[in-house]
Amino acid sequence: MDLISAKDAAAKWDITQRRVIVLCSEGRIPGAQIVGNSWVIPEKANKPLDARTKEAKNAETDVKPFLKWAGGKGQLLKEIEKYYPFGTDLKITKYAEPFVGGGAVLFDILNKFKLQEIYVSDINAELINAYTIIRDDIDALLDVLKQFETDYLSLSNSDRKKVYLTKRTRFNELKSKKENGVELAALMIFLNKTCFNGLYRVNRKGEYNVPMGAYKNPLICNGKNLKAVSDKLQNVKIVCGDYKESADFIDDKTFVYFDPPYRPLTATANFTSYTENLFDDRKQLELANFVQQIDNKGAKVVISNSDPKNTNENDDFFDNAYAKQNIKRVSATRMINRSSDKRGRINELLISNF
Ligand SMILES: C[S@@+](CC[C@H](N)C(=O)[O-])C[C@H]1O[C@@H](n2cnc3c(N)ncnc32)[C@H](O)[C@@H]1O
Repeated sequence: MDLISAKDAAAKWDITQRRVIVLCSEGRIPGAQIVGNSWVIPEKANKPLDARTKEAKNAETDVKPFLKWAGGKGQLLKEIEKYYPFGTDLKITKYAEPFVGGGAVLFDILNKFKLQEIYVSDINAELINAYTIIRDDIDALLDVLKQFETDYLSLSNSDRKKVYLTKRTRFNELKSKKENGVELAALMIFLNKTCFNGLYRVNRKGEYNVPMGAYKNPLICNGKNLKAVSDKLQNVKIVCGDYKESADFIDDKTFVYFDPPYRPLTATANFTSYTENLFDDRKQLELANFVQQIDNKGAKVVISNSDPKNTNENDDFFDNAYAKQNIKRVSATRMINRSSDKRGRINELLISNF
């Protein structure tokens, strides 16, 4: 096998030498090895799909999540991206994220790779309506949202509060009638940007009940990002429903990332109240079962969850549920429970079948 230096590979692929070294150390170039103290690369190696060439890497069109979402994976991206198999396993050309939420991983992948097929889903109907409207009706959405922003920002704090509550009532009216569309999507984004902490919480009747937040000058309509998100979502299949509906899409060409509601670390923690449906231990085990089924199909799978050993080192719930998979513990900054306003570093789990 003929080998070339990182410098020569950089020239051949039109990327920096530093980038070649990062790709080698991340294991993304099959056959790359260290000789002496330098990387050498098989002459026939292909440029990894995500190698950021000057043309491909365009910060102008990079997208970011358009909502703040509980359990957002922004801070774990550096760990999760180490699993991206695209470019190293050339068979993998599809991506599925069945618990998409705010989509931190989805948007990271959309920024870095051009894939053949992408599937996302979530059980939250208003969230999925927002994704769908951004993809299919972006101009109408921007018109409404821009108007919401202009009206709201011109008001005093007490008037803002009245407008916020009126919009929240209207949102719940549309939600209860399942009237999906531009207005519901605009209200979803408006409430997310102006409510307390970007929370999505509903009461027993299923009504969204988060109070107004205290932002002086919230960016309600980030038109540039929303337009770029719309472009990137054009070929994405967006489904409102249970994660199990992804079964037909997933095959041996698919990388799947599951980010289910986290198993609470303490009895008082309230990490699972994203929607009316609670994701209890029985559901966590059902998911582990589902993961086993798609593992059997040959898909590459990563699952994240909380690490019960943060609060009880004898709790082997996930070690047992995912006994056949690889479990990695990574450190993250999280709110430990509701009664504490302190944020602490705790371990989270990244479970994979490869
Ligand atoms: C931890 S959040 C995902 C966060 C996301 N990774 C992010 O970066 O924002 C879990 C998501 O799963 C959704 N969910 C809950 N039960 C579900 C189910 N049975 N099927 C699909 N989605 C579900 C929730 O609505 C929530 O958006």
